[in-house]
Amino acid sequence: MKIYNFSPGPACLSNSALNAAGEAAKEYNNSGMSILEMSHRSKEVVSLFEEGTANIKSLLSVPDNYHILWLQGGASTQFAMIPMNLIPKGGSADYIETGAWSSKAIKECAKVSNVNVIGSSKESIYNYIPKNFEQNIDSSYMHITSNNTIYGTQYKKYPKVNNPDGFLVADMSSDILSKPINVSDFGLIYAGAQKNMGPAGVTLVIIRDDLVGKNYSEIPTMLNYETHVKKKSMFNTPPVFSVFVVNETLKWLQSLGGLSEMEKMNERKAQKLYYEIERNSLFKSPIAEEDRSLMNVPFIFTDSSLNDADFLQFCDDRGLKTLKGHRSVGGFRASIYNAMPEVGVDTLIATMQDYETH
Ligand SMILES: Cc1ncc(COP(=O)(O)O)c(C=O)c1O
Repeated sequence: MKIYNFSPGPACLSNSALNAAGEAAKEYNNSGMSILEMSHRSKEVVSLFEEGTANIKSLLSVPDNYHILWLQGGASTQFAMIPMNLIPKGGSADYIETGAWSSKAIKECAKVSNVNVIGSSKESIYNYIPKNFEQNIDSSYMHITSNNTIYGTQYKKYPKVNNPDGFLVADMSSDILSKPINVSDFGLIYAGAQKNMGPAGVTLVIIRDDLVGKNYSEIPTMLNYETHVKKKSMFNTPPVFSVFVVNETLKWLQSLGGLSEMEKMNERKAQKLYYEIERNSLFKSPIAEEDRSLMNVPFIFTDSSLNDADFLQFCDDRGLKTLKGHRSVGGFRASIYNAMPEVGVDTLIATMQDYETH
């Protein structure tokens, strides 16, 4: 039976990236060595990092005044690095709270600086993206979470920063590379790899050149962006295998026609799933229609007395795995990142229809 993995992350990867990972784990580029045992100082690995960086730049059309960094510590470490590096002493930043991940980012910012939560949808269990808020004119940046993995909301239009010296910062962990973006709208973009890019272990940071090396205060070496810019992400031993798999994913995306093509595919997959959720008498979406995510699609029973575990087992028996909603919201969640084939979504829809009539 064909298995489809709807996990929110670590998530399904393309067959081409997985096959290449299997080969490279055995032997990398006819070197007689596995990539897992290769020095990051070797010319093979240095050129792998250069290739990965060039592929990110080309897929996302990254302007020349931005740096690409391959870091460790997950998106969670960025929650602290961003305010440490980008807010002057006594300064502040604006945050929009759209879910558990932005709450965590806010908490970390509050440890090192003043934080203004200028918009929040917490009161309605984050089922929409707040759009009316007052920015603070002296805040260094505004932080958003572009796609909310747990609740299934996604920005369709990014807010503009009012402060002429300010900039937008986005946690794009769960929708990076799902569609084209205008990188110059942002001062900094970050994303853990393990949803739409590759395996866990590496975090992509795209940072505008003028934001590097501000050194407003003493920052531990590993937490200073300047360290990683100067050393081309090789200050310490980087996660080579994770970067390899990300680069294979980038090559796969290019072979499919790049991010405009991915956007079309992602829209098609999400639209048909949302259509079925609306049509099927058993299910409904808890999320405001205009903010529904193309990546993470939560849904619940219309009749709350029905048993979630029964539907999950029905799916599991048909090869549809990890559809349980996050423990904080319950119900179901289908994560349909780039690597989820359309036939996987079609199989889920057919299973929802079978469940309705069985
Ligand atoms: C939007 C978002 N931000 C941050 C994180 C945390 O990422 P990490 O585990 O890489 O620290 C996640 C993980 O699920 C996420 O979905």
